Parts: sequence; structure tokens; C-alpha cells
Amino acid sequence: MADGRSSSPGGGTRDNAEPSRIVVANDKSIARAGVLLRQGSLVALPTETVYGLAADATNARAVAALFAAKGRPRFNPLIAHVADTAAAEALAWFDARAAKLAAAFWPGPLTLVLLRRAEAPVCDLACAGLASIALRVPAHPMAQAVIRAAGGPLAMPSANVSGRISPTQAVHVAEELGDKVAMILDGGPAAIGVESTVIDLTGPVPTVLRPGGITLEALAEGLEEEITLAMTETGDDPEAILAPGMMTSHYAPSLPVRLEASGPAEWPDEALLAFGAAVPEGYALVLNLSPIGDLREAAANLFTMLRELDRPGLGRIAVMPIPRTGLGLAINDRLTRAAACRE
Ligand code: TXA
Ligand code: MG
Repeated sequence: MADGRSSSPGGGTRDNAEPSRIVVANDKSIARAGVLLRQGSLVALPTETVYGLAADATNARAVAALFAAKGRPRFNPLIAHVADTAAAEALAWFDARAAKLAAAFWPGPLTLVLLRRAEAPVCDLACAGLASIALRVPAHPMAQAVIRAAGGPLAMPSANVSGRISPTQAVHVAEELGDKVAMILDGGPAAIGVESTVIDLTGPVPTVLRPGGITLEALAEGLEEEITLAMTETGDDPEAILAPGMMTSHYAPSLPVRLEASGPAEWPDEALLAFGAAVPEGYALVLNLSPIGDLREAAANLFTMLRELDRPGLGRIAVMPIPRTGLGLAINDRLTRAAACRE
């Protein structure tokens, strides 16, 4: 794991930003993105959850370049993004549960982990050699258009340096990955702000590997059966990791993060990520995820505000308690990883 406190390559300093690579998404730039992807280049694009870094999932060289650009360990498999359920069914075996969830939540922020079809053209590297494959049909019209322009499945992790805060705006991608991408399509801020919910359907009990944009409550209702939430504190042992994005330290700002802060500042240079109307005193800077205590608004603001507080002149970030219901589960999951010890 990269130490989040050292400056990793392209690791989020504003000096690395290459605004020239940012292109407003329109018919022409989307067609160009399709050509670049078919040629094996990397393109960053908006989805409804966070910005993704896309490569042709069938091209092992392009996928290798994607792992290298992110500094991502190769044991951590990628989600294949497709335009619709029919395209997903060509890559994996759908049982009744998968069909039900796809009908209820696709297109949208849900990723299904299913058994991969032997004939699926997605390269082994994208799936980290596993027998399973993670699939998502994104709802964002620009993501949809780019997938169709590329003409096949796109491997698309979040467009950040591995282990760091996920990008919710095009400029974040430029800061993170600079000249490592051929093009960054700008579709404005991501609406949901946290990644898709990843649910594993390869075993007898549906298991959520990563809470995300579809809540557990909605999933249980859609599936009409019991769902378990995977143990998320797996440490960094690849053997113990079900979804390798579950590594304890992830989403990490450079500054140390203190959770469940309800009192005044403990340090003069401490910033506060607040939630709700009752904000404690004495912090060097306060950003409020949602003054009215709305979890949707908080999720949409989470990564942008964490990034904003991770700045020179501040020494640490305190975060107020956030309810663990609905989207609050995904928010707390990301914050726990952001706060995890990185030594
Ligand atoms: O919202 C999202 O899902 C975004 C946007 C860009 O679509 N993508 C994203 O990708 O968050 P990434 O690579 O940052 O996270 C994918 C997660 C990782 O935790 C990975 O370990 C897990 O999905 N995953 C992928 N394939 C898997 C598999 N076959 N079995 C278990 N987990 C898998
Ligand atoms: Mg990610």
C-alpha cells in the first residue's frame, strides 16, 4: 500500500493539474473518446457515482496501462461497465437473483459480482485472474454514450491514484492523474458522490462487499431475501480480501483524520467536516456536508469536501458523527478507511 502521507506520483497536488486535457463532453468529444479507447488509450469520464478511468476491458495492454496509471495492485480486479443488461449477460451467468437486481437497479450505482462466462472477451488481468467478474451498467448519459462509442465493455475504476480520494469532478482527475490520461471528459460534478454498491452473488447468500449508492435497505427490498454485509476490516492481506478495494486504508487524504468528533477542536490547525446544524466551535476551517442533515447531500459533498480540507496550512481533519442508515453506511465506510492508520 502506498503511504498516503508521502507525495505519490501524480498524488493530488494542484501543480499536476493539466486543465488542457479536460474536454466538455459533447457528441464530438464522445466520438473521439470512443476512438481513443478502441486504440488502447485511457479516457476519464463522468458517471453518476464518481469519475472513472476507462480502458477497453478486452485489451490486456490497455488494462495494464490503467493499473500502472493508478498505481493499483494487480490483485485488485476492475468492474466491467456495459451499456445494458443484455451486454452484461454475454459476460457472466445470471441467476434469478442477478436478473431481479439488474431489473430493479440498472442502469444505476449497483455492481454485480457473478461467475464469468468462459467465452467472455474481458481480459484476465481486468478480473485479476478470478473466476468471477464485476459488472455495472452506469446511468450517466455520457458514460452510456462512451461505452456505446467504444463498442465494448470498459474496465473503469475510480479515476484516482490508488488508495486516495475518489474524484467527483473533472478537475480532480486532472490533479490526480495529470498527463497519464489521453482525455478527461467533463460532465460536471457527480450526482451521487460515492461509488456503486458491490454485491457478490457467487455464493449461497448475497453479500455486499462495498456499501455504496444503492442502500442495503433498497437492495433487501429489491431482492426479497436476506443479504449479508461482508466483514470490511480485512487489513491489507490480499488473501483475506474479498473485494480488494476493502483494504483498510483507502480514500486517504494526506492529513490524518479523526472520526466521531463532537466537541471543540483538539488542535489549533484542525479542520472540521461537519454534518447537521449543531456545529462545535474552535476549528480552523469548517465545511458542512449537509447543514440540514440530509445523507444524499452529504454523500454528494463527501469527497469534494475531504479534498478541499486536505490542504497546506491545515494539520488534521476531524469529522462529526454521521448516521449509519441509508447512504450513511457508505459514507461511514469511506470515512473509516480515510481515517485508518497508514503506517
Ligand atoms: O461507482 C463505481 O463503482 C466506480 C465508477 C467509476 O463506476 N468504479 C469503482 O471502481 O469504484 P473501483 O475499481 O474503484 O472499485 C471496484 C471495486 C473494488 O473494491 C474491487 O475490489 C471490487 O469492486 N471488485 C471488482 N471485481 C471484483 C470481483 N470479481 N470480485 C470481488 N470484488 C470485485
Ligand atoms: Mg476506487
